[in-house]
Parts: sequence; C-alpha cells; structure tokens
Amino acid sequence: MKQLLDDPLGYNDHIRRYSTGVILLSVFGILETGATPPIDVFPFLKYMPDFMSPWRKWALEIRTKQRTLYFDLLNQVKENIATGNYNGCFMEKLLPDKNHAIDDEHLEYIGGVLMEGGSDTTSSTLLSFILAMVKYPDDLKKAHEEADRVCGENRSPTFADLPDILYIRACVSEVLRWRPVAAGGIPHQLIQDDMYNGYIFPKGRIFVANTWSIHHDPDLYDKPDEFIPERYLRNEMGFRTGVTDIDGIRKTYAFGAGRRICPGQHLAENSLLINIAKLVWAFEFLPGKNPVTGEPLSKDAIDTSVVTAWTDGFLTAPIKFPLQIAVRSSNHAEVITRESNTSGEAFDDLHGK
Ligand code: HEM
Repeated sequence: MKQLLDDPLGYNDHIRRYSTGVILLSVFGILETGATPPIDVFPFLKYMPDFMSPWRKWALEIRTKQRTLYFDLLNQVKENIATGNYNGCFMEKLLPDKNHAIDDEHLEYIGGVLMEGGSDTTSSTLLSFILAMVKYPDDLKKAHEEADRVCGENRSPTFADLPDILYIRACVSEVLRWRPVAAGGIPHQLIQDDMYNGYIFPKGRIFVANTWSIHHDPDLYDKPDEFIPERYLRNEMGFRTGVTDIDGIRKTYAFGAGRRICPGQHLAENSLLINIAKLVWAFEFLPGKNPVTGEPLSKDAIDTSVVTAWTDGFLTAPIKFPLQIAVRSSNHAEVITRESNTSGEAFDDLHGK
C-alpha cells in the first residue's frame, strides 16, 4: 500500500513483489519483498527435432536457473535453523522432521513449487481486479461505500472486517470467475485405467478441465463476459436464476478440479480478500494516459478482451495497462503511512526479535 502510495506508476512491480513476498515469507521465512512450453498438453512435441523446438533449450536453461534458486532458498532455511533464527515458516517445520524420506532435491522442489504456484497467480488476480475497477467504476464506487461504512477513514480494513464486507467478497469471487489465472486448466494424467459414463480411458491419458469454458458458460451465468459481483450476492454460487443442485459442482474452478486441487487456495483467498479490501479502501483506480499522445483515456478505451489485454500461456495476467492510482484523501494517505511504519513490528516478531 505504501509503495502504491509513493510510486503509483510502478503498480505492476509492487503487486508482483507483494505476492512473491508473502510466499517467500510463509514458505522459506525470507522477508523480501513463467511461461511454460505446452509439452504436457501436446506430448507429440517431445518428438520434434531440436531445430524445430527452440523451447527445449529455453526449458533446460530455465531448469538450471530454477534449481540454483531453489537450492539457495533451501540453504538459507538450513542456515536459519543452524543459527537458531526461527520464524515459523513452512520449510522450517519440514526440514528437521527426519521421519519423511524426502531428499534435498525434492525438498527444494516442494518449496520452489509452492513459491511459483503462489506468486504469479495471486498478483495476476489482483491486477485483473484493478483492471476491472477501471472498466467498471460503478462497482468500485459500491466497494468504496462498503469499505467506508465498515472501516471509516481512520483505519484500513483488517481480517476482522471480512464478515462485514459482502460486496467486496463478491468482487473477489467475481474476479476469480471472470479472469481465472489458469484459464485453460492444468493437465491431469491418469495413473491407472479408468471408466467414465461407459467410456474406457487408458492409463496415461491426459485430461484438461477447461476453467474458462465452465466460468463463461451462459447456461450457468448471466452475461458471463461481464464483471458483475452482484451475481454472488443474489446466489452464493453466482449462478443465474433457476440453476440449482448440480451434483458436485464447485463455486469456483479457479483453483482447479478433482482431488489434486490447489493446496494454496485458503491462503490465496485470504490474501486476495484482505488486499482487495485494503486497495479499494485506499485508492481510486482510473484510466491512465494514452502512451502515444499523453491524452487521458476514457474507461471505454480500456481493453478488457482476454485475447488482447491478457498474456498468453498456461498462467495468464493482464498486460501492463494505462492506470492512474490516486489515494482517496490525505486522511487515507496518513493512515497508510502510519500503518506502514508500525507494520515493521509484526515482521520483527516473525524474526524472533
Ligand atoms: C489466486 C491465487 C491462486 C490461484 C488462482 C491458483 C490456482 C491453481 C491451480 C488452477 C492449480 C492446479 C490445480 C489442478 O491441477 O487442478 C494450482 C496448483 C497449485 N497451487 Fe495454486 N493457485 C493460487 C495460489 C496459490 C498459493 C498462494 C500457493 C502456495 C502457498 C499455491 C500453490 C500451488 C501448488 C503447490 C500447486 C500444485 C499442486 C499439485 O501439483 O498437486 N497456489 N493452483
């Protein structure tokens, strides 16, 4: 919040640094603040010759860099444990437990995958939310009114406010539906032969639950392409009137489907709720300037097409867009500065100081 206040134009970096920071702290206890080749979806790509597969070289380079990063992070936790500098992070609990038979390479990847799974996904959702607020200012106004009614001007929202901010909660559900980060779904592979609805599927078959299609199904959602948080106030699943009792259906597929669903869902939902509540409490989000002419843009000029305004890849995120972030009043600015100054004490606790 303080970084957005001091340097609003750097919003993209601040939000991405924040979400990576949360994971680094909770998984590795470190207080600091990727595109994937589609080989799992199209396994035949494995058989392409090297000259037709430049991604093979990139993948190997990325793997080397990734291993070095994961190795360094694990070593830092080991060093913290050796020097008695505990802070309660996840890896600190996993490392000394010798009852598991996990070698260092797997430990590195457990931590690394948690970090990668949790950083870009959260920042992408926060950025999609901000883009929605620029495009749908009436919704931002309703969120402002709710934040003001619940918190007033002299403090920002806390976790204790979450039960009272129903509209803002509906905004979080809606952004996860409207622009799911893993829009095409994550491939799952059968580890044994299976049968479903009379069809036989052999071991090794790959399935993809297409999140985008489910979240934009007009049989389930009214005007699915529009950002309409109210759908979650009318019906807790967000469904259109008349849609009831679909056996086993989830409220959201943003975190995947089946048993191998995102293990970070609860952390992510809490992180999104508190951040979105704080962001709307503190700021106005307006269209920025035309990068070529320097003229202020109207909201109609803001592109929200998933084809042109979001990145390609397994994980998608808004492409950097012209944005103006303005603090709502000098009172709000004072509170952000005050709360930022005192937040250091919470971090001291995490470092056992
Ligand atoms: C808005 C935030 C997030 C979204 C939208 C999201 C979404 C997803 C999705 C769609 C999957 C694939 C599930 C499947 O295979 O069906 C996944 C897997 C995963 N997520 Fe998340 N995630 C988020 C945040 C997090 C956080 C905060 C963490 C870590 C603390 C995390 C850790 C992981 C891991 C480790 C996996 C791989 C699980 C496995 O392969 O079994 N995610 N996530």
